[in-house]
Amino acid sequence: MAIPEHFLAELRSRVGLVDLVGRRVKLTRRGREHTGLCPFHNEKTPSFTVNEDKGFYHCFGCSAHGGAIDFVIATEGLSFPEAVERLAAEVGMEVPRSVPRDPEAEERRKNLYDVMQIAAEWFEGQLAGMAGEGARQYIEGRGLTAATVQRFHLGYAPDRRDLMKQTLLTRGLEESQLVEAGLLIAPEDGGESYDRFRNRLMFPITDARERVVAFGGRALGEQRAKYLNSPETPIFHKGDLLYNLANARKPARDGDTLVVVEGYMDVIALDQAGLPFAVAPLGTALTENQMTNLWRLVAEPALCFDGDAAGQRAAHRAAERALPLLQPGHSLKFIALPAGEDPDSLVRGKGTAAFADLLAGAVPLSETLWRMRVQGKNLETPEQRAGLRKDLRALVREITDGTVRAYYGEHFKERLDSAFAPARSNGSGVGVRPAHRGKPGWRRGPLYSPPIPAHRGLGRGRDVDTQPRERLLIAALLNHPDLIHEVFEDLGQLHLSSPVLDNIRTVIIEKATSGVPLDLEGLSDNFHSGALANASIELVAELTGPGTAKLEPFARPDATLAEAVKGWTTLFGFHRLEDLRREAKEAEADYFRDLEQVVDDKGSEMTSKKFARLISLQKDLELAEIKFSREDLL
Ligand code: UTP
Ligand code: MN
Repeated sequence: MAIPEHFLAELRSRVGLVDLVGRRVKLTRRGREHTGLCPFHNEKTPSFTVNEDKGFYHCFGCSAHGGAIDFVIATEGLSFPEAVERLAAEVGMEVPRSVPRDPEAEERRKNLYDVMQIAAEWFEGQLAGMAGEGARQYIEGRGLTAATVQRFHLGYAPDRRDLMKQTLLTRGLEESQLVEAGLLIAPEDGGESYDRFRNRLMFPITDARERVVAFGGRALGEQRAKYLNSPETPIFHKGDLLYNLANARKPARDGDTLVVVEGYMDVIALDQAGLPFAVAPLGTALTENQMTNLWRLVAEPALCFDGDAAGQRAAHRAAERALPLLQPGHSLKFIALPAGEDPDSLVRGKGTAAFADLLAGAVPLSETLWRMRVQGKNLETPEQRAGLRKDLRALVREITDGTVRAYYGEHFKERLDSAFAPARSNGSGVGVRPAHRGKPGWRRGPLYSPPIPAHRGLGRGRDVDTQPRERLLIAALLNHPDLIHEVFEDLGQLHLSSPVLDNIRTVIIEKATSGVPLDLEGLSDNFHSGALANASIELVAELTGPGTAKLEPFARPDATLAEAVKGWTTLFGFHRLEDLRREAKEAEADYFRDLEQVVDDKGSEMTSKKFARLISLQKDLELAEIKFSREDLL
């Protein structure tokens, strides 16, 4: 039985090779490639590489080479068709067969897909027709455009007992099929079957191959259930599917962003607002299977929950359920919505930017777990702290993957240590405010500070004028020739607004990279001639001579190297945060400008890129916020 090449090509493109290989081999990213210890021969240093873009792995040691299918064959001892079958099942594809294994079951399933498609089209027709008047008004009231209605193939199930049944029967469909498809309800007592969905707005639910396999129906009248979903059928297993996954797949991959929301309407509203990467489970909590599917697309899907207590509990449950499934590089993050809002009401009321902001401020899984255990707890006594430690350890033990477990253990340990560490007194640093000067004891204050929303200025950071801060950073380097080696990488990222200071910075870097020790006397020879050079030489003299007394202690020559490093990195942190905030703001403006102008596909591809840039900047910013604006640094 030959499997068509186009099918294999599609299969290869859907399987994440790094993801697949990564389950057996610990991989480290190196540029475009991932490397690790070869699973096909014994080695101590890695010569095995995986290239996701090209879709193959290669070992420079033993010449093992191949793609996803070869890898499964080689590592699991499967035959070619078996390996294809395995991978296809994972990515929700169905292997085309010339000879079905169970022809009758196969035929019935095929018919079910047809039945669902016919039903979907019928619902669409009803929405467009006379019976759909009320539903159309409802849709309009909820702000959906005609294009959106069409894109999601929304429909209407009329308020009639068995209109669908009668119509589809006259078209030659069988009652038993309609029952099996979940479109009709056949009463237990043997009475007449009738339409399951009546007077509801219909949302077709598709599988990964975009075939309609179920419906969700929203009540438009006074029905008891607000939403009614299709029952489980041979072609519909709700725990395996996510609403809108087929549409969201590409935008999610392209922008490395995927959001899980609660409702169909949320998905649709986000899509209409230009955020096409949202999916929703079908009225239940996320299953393991669904989480695994999310991770095939992005490393850190964001789960969105109500800001209220129930939403928080749901978030915590999801966080705990994720632990056994974590893999290196795979995690979750959490968005808490403002109370009383869902994503639909939020983008409609406050616009796309409001949601993008929330997304940018999403809280990492590790932080969510920490808060979950720390929140509302009294942690004054050793017993209470011991209790916390034990709770955290229990969480960590839930993690199955050894590497991730080890890192989590380490992470919580550090957090505990720093949360309860005795305050260190330190009189030297700029902006370093000892928590309890001189007094040993526990550091008070919250164990976590709520994340600072992106773009809200950091008060204390801003109070320090840019220029004196830039001067200090450079002065410290001049007065501590060894400092450069401690902060070399940061110095490369330092943006200085003063051309003179920037000129000095360049010379310091040049000196350091040439291997010559930084000596002040020789330094002036390195400035080329001209006004800038003269100004630079003057400033160097000032910062290392009479001006030193005016400097913050850490930047003076008599500070120890450790003090200089600490003061320098703290100050650099403020500076870097401001840079990132500005860049993120610009990227955001850039993205939204585009969004308003997008007309064609080319435009939207560009927009995806800009979105990706925005998200990546916001991620950097978020990391920097955590790293630099910690209370103990301020
Ligand atoms: P919500 O009650 O939050 O509704 O249910 P919603 O999505 O915001 O819908 P609108 O805005 O009121 O129209 C969230 C999801 O939970 C499932 C559905 O999948 C729904 O989209 N649900 C809800 C049910 O399955 N049954 C229900 O009765 C209610
Ligand atoms: Mn809603």
